[in-house]
Amino acid sequence: MRLAIIGTGYVGLVSGACFSEFGHEVTCVDINEATIAKLRAGEIPIYEPGLDELVKRNSRSGRLKFTSDVREGVKDAEAVFIAVGTPSRRGDGHADLSYVYAAAQQVAESVTRSCLIVTKSTVPVGTAKQVASIVAKSRPDLTIEVASNPEFLREGSAIEDFMRPDRVVCGTESESAQAVLRDIYRPLSLREVPILFVDCETSELIKYAANAFLAVKITFINEIADLCEKTGANVQAVARGIGMDNRIGSKFLHAGPGYGGSCFPKDTTALLKTAEDFESPMQIVKATVDVNNQRKRMMGRKVIAAAGGSVEDKKIALLGLTFKPNTDDMRDSPAIDIVRVLQDHGAKVSAFDPEGRRQAELLLEDVEFAEDAYGAMEDADVLVLVTEWNEFRALDLDRVKRLLKTPRIVDLRNIYRPEQMRAAGFEYTSIGRP
Ligand code: UDX
Repeated sequence: MRLAIIGTGYVGLVSGACFSEFGHEVTCVDINEATIAKLRAGEIPIYEPGLDELVKRNSRSGRLKFTSDVREGVKDAEAVFIAVGTPSRRGDGHADLSYVYAAAQQVAESVTRSCLIVTKSTVPVGTAKQVASIVAKSRPDLTIEVASNPEFLREGSAIEDFMRPDRVVCGTESESAQAVLRDIYRPLSLREVPILFVDCETSELIKYAANAFLAVKITFINEIADLCEKTGANVQAVARGIGMDNRIGSKFLHAGPGYGGSCFPKDTTALLKTAEDFESPMQIVKATVDVNNQRKRMMGRKVIAAAGGSVEDKKIALLGLTFKPNTDDMRDSPAIDIVRVLQDHGAKVSAFDPEGRRQAELLLEDVEFAEDAYGAMEDADVLVLVTEWNEFRALDLDRVKRLLKTPRIVDLRNIYRPEQMRAAGFEYTSIGRP
């Protein structure tokens, strides 16, 4: 099929590349000419494992094209996916839909045949209907239907998630729209991936409910971790113990410094706004957002406590800055709050992140960036493991001890075993473990 994708961010680019890998002819459109020029030259503007190879292979085969001209991109498309950003609106936390609506308007003005417009961006309940009305007003001459098809891609494993999803959710209003989406996802149905057809409102809400539920689950185990620290219990064992109950499940029960990233913080806040608009309060999600925000700052205070109560003029080394490994994404990363709290208390901060430096430099001031993990920890008073990149899992502990001024480690991802670290001579603090 001929598809167009509007927006070449994480979601648009991954979706476009994966659809072309399915065998569809895909044109990715972005108004940012510099981004398109890079993509045409084979450069990938984001870090996502496997994406580089996928884009190159499908560009070479001619199935994946890039353009900054919406008209050219959508002219023969049978379906157009809108995958532009929906950031939090400044001031109120609502999802900012201006890019979605602008894209819908442009697509409507540019298409030359009846087609299906699909919202892939994360959008609040009711957006597909709004898009449908924009499109109908602009092109009464054509039959343009609108569907909703949210993504559930994790950064760092987005391609695997696209190719082997637990399910595909499609919100449609007609049999013909269903048929188009069924054709697009046919390669997955051969792999027996369930495709769930619902109405557009339900589809839009599934996306927010899924992300909010996962955020609640993480925050729940984080609070259990705090209780473990007070009582001497071990949060990893508690997570194993409850995770073996199939009704609970073992995933997303890793206690840590709080969730960050491009989705959970923004989507939980937007869901709260929708709940407010419809006077249907969501107290559990509200508490989750508050607890998570406090937690990120609390992690800074945890480091200060580990440093003996003061970090004034002390050097604190951070390993990992991105909100999780295998991404260069710094959005709402706990590292940002941790650095701020430490600097507010007079610390000098050094840091190393395998991929996040460029984005971190835009967000963090007065941080000394090292070329590798060992470079960051030289003469530091405390070493803090913030993000669980694989390369931090097997550090040369003798070397670490020699490099640190005092052998203190705060492990916010429970990468190491407390007994092992204490036996190696470290003052070791982790999350929810004695
Ligand atoms: C998430 C959803 O998983 C995905 O389905 C959605 O479409 C977009 O948002 P992503 O933000 O890429 O994906 O990352 P994810 O792996 O879900 O992690 C989110 C945050 O939660 C990270 O900061 C991570 O460190 C944290 N986390 C995750 C925990 O602290 N503990 C866990 O057990 C799992």
